[in-house]
Amino acid sequence: MALYNLIVNGKNHSIDVDSDTPLLWVLRDSLHLVGTKYGCGIAQCGACTIHLDGASIRSCSYPISELEKGQKITTIEGLSENATHALQQAWQEHDVPQCGYCQAGQIMNAASFLKDYPNPKDSEIDAAMNGNLCRCGTYLRIKKAIKTAAKNM
Ligand code: FES
Ligand code: FES
Repeated sequence: MALYNLIVNGKNHSIDVDSDTPLLWVLRDSLHLVGTKYGCGIAQCGACTIHLDGASIRSCSYPISELEKGQKITTIEGLSENATHALQQAWQEHDVPQCGYCQAGQIMNAASFLKDYPNPKDSEIDAAMNGNLCRCGTYLRIKKAIKTAAKNM
């Protein structure tokens, strides 16, 4: 076990965990931020997507020991105040989720994508979101919502 200092959603935390603990379990088990989901555990589905300094990472496969000092973690709980991010609004407008399990990861990946591609083409959305799986098949609504959010950002 070792003590790690984390900045999560703008707050500082000190956590005593094994160095190979994936960030996913630090967030869920130690910090009780359960919006980030466990799907595959091998970086293949995107359910566990969070931001590290604004870029998407798969938290199931990111050991806490790889964090560098001062890096900022953002989870779905910290994406906006009261779900006011343009993507969260567009998600509601298009009624995107079905079971909802994959959706936090979808939104977090879309949020980092839109920072780099504020006016995305269909092909760019497809390429960026390709690795975020949805067993309920909400892909068409996800794409529509990303386009709506891009217009409103
Ligand atoms: S749980 Fe992390 S990518 Fe599937
Ligand atoms: S909404 Fe059910 S897995 Fe995506």
